[in-house]
Amino acid sequence: MVEKKILARIDGPVVLIGFGSIGRGVLPLLERHIDFDPKRLVVIDPSDADRHLLDERGITFIQSAVTRDNYRELLTPLLTAGGGQGFCINLSVDTSSHDIMDLARSLGALYIDTVAEPWLGFYFDQSKGPGDRSNYALREVVLDLRRRSPGGPTAVSCCGANPGMVSWFVKQALLNLQKDIGLDGAEPTTKADWAALAQRLGVKGIHIAERDTQRANTPKKRGMFVNTWSVEGFISEGLQPAELGWGTHENWMPENGRTHSTGCQAAIYLMQPGANTRVRTWAPTPGPQYGFLVTHNEAISIADYLTVHDGSGKAIYRPTCHYAYHPCDDAVLSLHEMFGQAGQRQPEWKIFDENEIVDGIDELGVLLYGHGKNAYWYGSRLSVEETRKLAPYQNATGMQVTSAVLAGMVWALENPKAGIVEADDMDFRRCLEVQTPYLGSIEGHYTDWTPLEGRPGLFPEDIDTADPWQFKNILVR
Ligand SMILES: NC(=O)c1ccc[n+]([C@@H]2O[C@H](COP(=O)([O-])OP(=O)(O)OC[C@H]3O[C@@H](n4cnc5c(N)ncnc54)[C@H](O)[C@@H]3O)[C@@H](O)[C@H]2O)c1
Repeated sequence: MVEKKILARIDGPVVLIGFGSIGRGVLPLLERHIDFDPKRLVVIDPSDADRHLLDERGITFIQSAVTRDNYRELLTPLLTAGGGQGFCINLSVDTSSHDIMDLARSLGALYIDTVAEPWLGFYFDQSKGPGDRSNYALREVVLDLRRRSPGGPTAVSCCGANPGMVSWFVKQALLNLQKDIGLDGAEPTTKADWAALAQRLGVKGIHIAERDTQRANTPKKRGMFVNTWSVEGFISEGLQPAELGWGTHENWMPENGRTHSTGCQAAIYLMQPGANTRVRTWAPTPGPQYGFLVTHNEAISIADYLTVHDGSGKAIYRPTCHYAYHPCDDAVLSLHEMFGQAGQRQPEWKIFDENEIVDGIDELGVLLYGHGKNAYWYGSRLSVEETRKLAPYQNATGMQVTSAVLAGMVWALENPKAGIVEADDMDFRRCLEVQTPYLGSIEGHYTDWTPLEGRPGLFPEDIDTADPWQFKNILVR
């Protein structure tokens, strides 16, 4: 158990939207590290499945969905009740991050979420093209709000494990690499400095390389989608187009790759669902493995953050960046089953809780590749056994997310007038300092693996032997 140590104080009302696997797991961390009045905490969720956890603490529960039609009337009185600065913690699916963040800030309240989420219906809206259903589009909406209303109360956008914590890992990994390669230079302090460091190190790309080995006491049933975190969230993002921050070293693009005509221009998307798109990657436990190129906000924000522009505004350096996710084995089977039925979701679903998982770890890190030391993985390796000792109501996956939410909240309370920020904009040291007690072992590993290892095998392949780190070699075609 991590000792109770108060890190920050909320002097106003607290509104927690969504009490699913992440909302439930955040609660004990707030109780342990944030000084707030539990009588001024309100939890909103249409499901009362875990209501007993709130009842036994005397916390107010509103059983309702937050919707486009009711969010103003529902949230305004709650976020302003009783004076002090409110804090809105949005951990639900199907609630617009943009709209709720905008409302919270207009009321002087702080805000945090873990994903740039749209209102219900967006992900499956067939009238929208794939580009309009992308995370690029969702992020641009938040960036546009930041441009239109700079400064003001802090709203932390996309601060879970990934997106979120991995942006802090990227910075620490760049510093470790700088030291190990022996490159001179002061520690970066600005976005431009970090981008210049990545460029000087010759980092061609970054995978958010994850392996979840958690497994339950009973095997997955046919017709059931199982996962270690939100099934709804995973299916929604998994059916969005595959998306990646697009590096300046890439000399080949898949035929179904598409660029955007507006916005930051840091990313492209493929005309296929991310959860049905495989890439070659590497993580310490499996070594080489396949991961799914599921779209995530951080693939775009990290690539954008690390872009170097010349005087005319042209991007002259940017790393490729994308998720390479091997979820728990039962989730891989669930995807296989779902895509076998043309993407029709199974009639039943379930999120493994910490009691039904028999063993396994969530190994989540960043793989920086293409530099002088080939590739470097830096991240958290957290087992379910350790998680049980650290805090209740969550598995290892949840713990990596909830502790990032805690870190983001502490940072927001310490920097209450920072405006709208992404994890890349925050003090990575302070955030990791808050989060580290909950991350198990944080490790760095070098590897000499490249996506060309063992290739071509028994069949001829269209590969680029001149540069192992081309996306052409990484994408499984
Ligand atoms: N950044 C990260 O690392 C990360 C990791 C995991 C989850 N997430 C995101 O966090 C969110 C929560 O994940 P989870 O695993 O707790 O999901 P979950 O499916 O376990 O829980 C979501 C909860 O939201 C509730 N909900 C649904 N519609 C709602 C509405 N309109 N208003 C209020 N509540 C509503 C559901 O009843 C459910 O209890 C998701 O958006 C997910 O994508 C981010």
